Amino acid sequence: MTRTTLEAGVTRRDVLKVAGLTGLGAALYASGLERWLPRALTAEATNQVPFYGKYQAGILTPPQNHVQIVAFDVQTTRRDELIDLLKRWTRACARLTAGLPLGDSDSLYVPPEDTGEAEGLSASHLTFTFGCGHGLFADDRFEIGHKRPNLLRELPAFDLDQLDPKWAGGDLVVQICADDQQVVFHALRNLTRIGRGIVKIRWTQTGFQRSKAADATGGTPRNLFGFKDGTGNPDVSQPAIRNKHLFYQWQDGSPWMTNGSFLVVRRIQMHLEVWDRTILKEQERTFGRDRASGAPLGSKDEFASVTPSKRTARGEASLPKDSHTAVAHGSGEAQLLRRSYSYQAGINETTGALDAGLLFLSYQRSPEQFITIQRRLAASDRLNEYITHRGSALFACFGGIQKGGYIGDALFA
Ligand code: HEM
Repeated sequence: MTRTTLEAGVTRRDVLKVAGLTGLGAALYASGLERWLPRALTAEATNQVPFYGKYQAGILTPPQNHVQIVAFDVQTTRRDELIDLLKRWTRACARLTAGLPLGDSDSLYVPPEDTGEAEGLSASHLTFTFGCGHGLFADDRFEIGHKRPNLLRELPAFDLDQLDPKWAGGDLVVQICADDQQVVFHALRNLTRIGRGIVKIRWTQTGFQRSKAADATGGTPRNLFGFKDGTGNPDVSQPAIRNKHLFYQWQDGSPWMTNGSFLVVRRIQMHLEVWDRTILKEQERTFGRDRASGAPLGSKDEFASVTPSKRTARGEASLPKDSHTAVAHGSGEAQLLRRSYSYQAGINETTGALDAGLLFLSYQRSPEQFITIQRRLAASDRLNEYITHRGSALFACFGGIQKGGYIGDALFA
């Protein structure tokens, strides 16, 4: 078969497969308007989030139902092999996010190009967000040692941390999100398969949130302690706020990271048994928020501004000083974009208690934003009684990938 290549290695046959049943694809081909096809089929029709753009998808994208974070160690010591892998991953991601299989060879005499479990499923808002850890720069093995941003190093130890090294580090990271867990797994499996011999999985963690479909109002999702989580995020739809808090700028020192962002991953166990025995008033004092509405104590509206100085009629602080909201907010200067998910990982073998918690993910222009807030929280957050930090990693995520380019190309230029 002659394969006429469209965007992202997408063939006519692929496009017709995606458009197929609606008849739209065939009609557009017949009229010679096929170049409009990908655009005509975006968003609602195909549940696609564009892979290419100024920023990587998966940061500003409204959180999908599922996440899988995977950290890889790079095994090869050859720069050209690593670059070749990033190019092959780019092609794969462009296809998968377009809802296409990795290939369409029907030969019975070679293993299928695609593992097949996502056949018939939509793109499900699949996104990939790639970044690198400080280990990628070590020993200058890929001739990029001099390009390590100063801020990309181990996060400092915080009081109360009980970190397990199995959730730390990694040369490369990929945050994979989608509304269908099978689509997420398929993506992870195929990236790993493509990378075999060049990279090896170091750790992977999955997370979930309540399905968007189950909440027609699209309200703020709740965490496993039953509270709305994400209310106080900065409004990153505003360019000025995005530039101040979220995306790295060239003048920050490492031009290759422009429009990228630092990703912090913390695995935080939540002690559900203890929480479930805690009276509601104390639960609300712990977060400093009303459980039902999500409003800061002393206010009625979920999105009311957080004012730690606000007093009740009796002169007491409405928002307890040591509540999570008050301590995290501080003066309001350090902000970050939280994009966290819940996790559950079976039981603690010794106690039989559920091992569950928050897969805390935050994006920020500089790791200092996270460090400032976490230092305050570790020192005086009332929530500390109910949680334990078990895992920690920091990555520098690349700027957006441009058509014709590849993941991380600015770093290797
Ligand atoms: C299991 C651990 C955690 C839980 C259950 C949790 C939950 C919450 C909840 C329910 C809120 C209030 C609603 C909202 O604004 O989203 C909140 C706010 C916040 N949390 Fe956490 N959080 C956790 C860990 C952390 C960590 C590790 C950080 C960063 C170091 C953090 C930073 C923040 C910030 C910045 C706010 C907004 C404060 C403001 O209103 O300005 N949280 N969190």
